[in-house]
Amino acid sequence: MSGKAGSNQMWGGRFAAGPAAIMREINASIPFDKALWRQDIAASQAHVAMLGAQGIVSPDDAAAIAAGLAHVATEYAAHGVPENWDLEDIHMTTESRLAELIGPVAGRLHTARSRNDQVATDFRLWVRDCLDQTDAALAALQAALVMRADEHAATIMPGFTHLQTAQPVTLGHHLLAYYEMFRRDRSRVADARARLNECPLGAAALAGTGFPIDRAATAAALGFDRPTANSLDSVSDRDFALDFLMAAAQIALHVSRLAEELIIWASQPFGFVVLPDSLSTGSSIMPQKKNPDAAELVRGHAGRIIGSLTALMITMKGLPLAYSKDMQDDKPPVFEAAGLLSLSLAAMTGMVAEARFRTDRMRGAAELGYATATDLADWLVRQADIPFREAHHITGAAVRLAESRGVALDQIALADLQAIDPRIQPGVYAALSVEASVAARTSYGGTAPDQVRQRVAEARAALGLEAE
Ligand code: ARG
Repeated sequence: MSGKAGSNQMWGGRFAAGPAAIMREINASIPFDKALWRQDIAASQAHVAMLGAQGIVSPDDAAAIAAGLAHVATEYAAHGVPENWDLEDIHMTTESRLAELIGPVAGRLHTARSRNDQVATDFRLWVRDCLDQTDAALAALQAALVMRADEHAATIMPGFTHLQTAQPVTLGHHLLAYYEMFRRDRSRVADARARLNECPLGAAALAGTGFPIDRAATAAALGFDRPTANSLDSVSDRDFALDFLMAAAQIALHVSRLAEELIIWASQPFGFVVLPDSLSTGSSIMPQKKNPDAAELVRGHAGRIIGSLTALMITMKGLPLAYSKDMQDDKPPVFEAAGLLSLSLAAMTGMVAEARFRTDRMRGAAELGYATATDLADWLVRQADIPFREAHHITGAAVRLAESRGVALDQIALADLQAIDPRIQPGVYAALSVEASVAARTSYGGTAPDQVRQRVAEARAALGLEAE
């Protein structure tokens, strides 16, 4: 290949077609930015309506351009966006098709704008839709969590620290922990949307324009709160994309932790959950296997989403004002993260909604590991007025005794407990059951079933869900 006429020996085989072909290929963003076609048409429609209203183009020309753009949109919707690398990107692709359809008047559309403010506008519109879809997906996941939490407000499971049995909690309480994470994530999405919602259209290439444009009109037509205030910033800013990716990374991190828990819980030694068949796969060699692939991919996708954030931050960090072509690379990481996040949230919502929790296994596991040792210590503090540190010490001795006999705390005879400390009374046994343990944790935000039910009611109200 490298010996072909027209190629350069030093550049090698990749350049067999000559440098112009390589330039054409590296320059083209149409393979990915065609995803912006709806936004590109909408922004052009707003722009041409404003040009007409301001008398910058004649009413007839504005009408011809508007009709032509509508026709192009119909073609794109029916047949997809053609990918011609010579036309570089979605902006030139649309303008070129418009010229084929309506002739040279198409050239008036690009008055008082540049591809720099055009792409900034299109991409903001795209990211804004994506934020709205993310919020809806998070709300659906929250609703699934709340329904299951309601069902399992009193279902006892072991709570862990260090992945060691710590104290009994309820499954409903555990699920509502994720409800809280996604509640914060939705506020991140809302913050990002509020900051994003300023319109860069009219910044033109970088300095603004001498044409008497009405930026407030185009901003309003596209649903923005106001036009951006600095033309240089308008065409150089990709904070809105980074804000989305930061929120996406945080959300992905949260769903990944939940995925990890489901994977652990679905393993045979735990056996806390049976994931839905529809979101699991079998093994090609081991017939007994049912693998939590959807959960594993949610966990895996989080890595790629966090990678997308890193990619765009690194793309942006060294760029001088205003636009540089590096910024064309802003779209692939955002598109990839958006696609992965939307799939992850949908898969997780399905898993939460359909999981079969094995409450017997959870209850049994809560009995193991002396999960109510703190309750014994608390009983000594409250009923025998023993300082907590001393109570902790006495309880340690009781756990050692139980361990040496291979029994649970509430299976030690009273005489044996009293041999450890004579202040222990028969009433202690009521405190040592896992039910008593969770029921006692009535502090605000605690795991007591009554607390969980109150949080469920608040969450239902916040989500606008019907109460049962
Ligand atoms: N395809 C380009 C992008 O996505 C559009 C802006 C091109 N601007 C320019 N001055 N070459 O960034």
